[in-house]
Amino acid sequence: MKLFVDTAVIDEIREINETGLLDGVTTNPSLVAKAGRDFKDAVKEICSIVEGPVSAEVTATDLKTMIKEGESLAKLAQNVCVKVPLTFDGLKACRHLRGQGIMVNVTLCFSANQALLAAKSGASFISPFIGRLDDINLPGMQLIADIRQIYDNFEFDTEILAASIRGVNHVSEAALAGSDVATIPTGVFRKLYDHPLTDKGLASFLSDWKATGQSIL
Ligand code: E4P
Repeated sequence: MKLFVDTAVIDEIREINETGLLDGVTTNPSLVAKAGRDFKDAVKEICSIVEGPVSAEVTATDLKTMIKEGESLAKLAQNVCVKVPLTFDGLKACRHLRGQGIMVNVTLCFSANQALLAAKSGASFISPFIGRLDDINLPGMQLIADIRQIYDNFEFDTEILAASIRGVNHVSEAALAGSDVATIPTGVFRKLYDHPLTDKGLASFLSDWKATGQSIL
């Protein structure tokens, strides 16, 4: 499964990218507002750091302006993936932009039917929001499994990008449900390698090693 980071903060992206584990980045208007940067400058900088797709979202809601914004964002770098909302006009914008060879991530997906429409519109990625479904007591992870089944049934090549991830369990559960990608907040990304038994085991190895009085170098 590919691992994306869900942030517009450059320092966080650089830090995670240093692990060599980062396959892409997603941003949204709220994350850009939080980062406090000029949107296009930030997207250009992120694209220069990360080789994989960098999602940048349109903010218009009508077809004509969404297409214009998408084309403008796609010109910022070759790895820009234009994000459009899963609306009637958003799906039409998706088809249009894909026809121009531009990568498109269809976002704010909350149902399997929406994901089916996005795939039929040629989306490169579909973003089901797991956490926001869980927040209202609906089974977020089941949506990932349902979309996986539908895409496999009909051999759609749209990649499932599990979004709105709230904790480390969401990451492994999304992988088990067959998600192609998980986009992960930085705080959760940092916790992925943590395990108390790893820390405990290492402490005991080091103390036993110290008692031998040996040194490798
Ligand atoms: C995905 O691309 C979105 O930016 C993100 O995952 C939304 O997550 P939230 O529900 O935590 O805001």
